Amino acid sequence: MERRTLLLCGLLALTGCGAAGTARKPGVGSAKTGDRVAGLADVPAGTGKLVDMPGDGQLLVVRTDAGVRVFNPACPHQGTVVNPPAAGVITCPTHRSEFDLSSGAVLSGPSPKGLVEVPVRVAGEDVLLA
Ligand code: FES
Repeated sequence: MERRTLLLCGLLALTGCGAAGTARKPGVGSAKTGDRVAGLADVPAGTGKLVDMPGDGQLLVVRTDAGVRVFNPACPHQGTVVNPPAAGVITCPTHRSEFDLSSGAVLSGPSPKGLVEVPVRVAGEDVLLA
């Protein structure tokens, strides 16, 4: 590593700047029952996405042919925010635990259990906290 790169890395570490993550915390944040999580149009069937919630929360919305489900994206192993689903599987980037798209159940890896589901209801074209 070049000296200049090393110095820049050290400076960023001291200031906290340049961190890859945001201040988002997995969960509903300060959202309350009835607050909007996402629009159905935002999450086509067979996909999912991380959505920001009020109060720096973050949730994972997934949509299958069976409907919409919302999970706390914190991996039950050590808390890493999981990736949005790809090829029907939700994967934790840290130790590669895999979770079922439809149920959040753990499929493989070190996670001791599945993702925690957040109750929601669909009203028209909106997904709302239940
Ligand atoms: S933190 Fe997700 S598998 Fe370890």
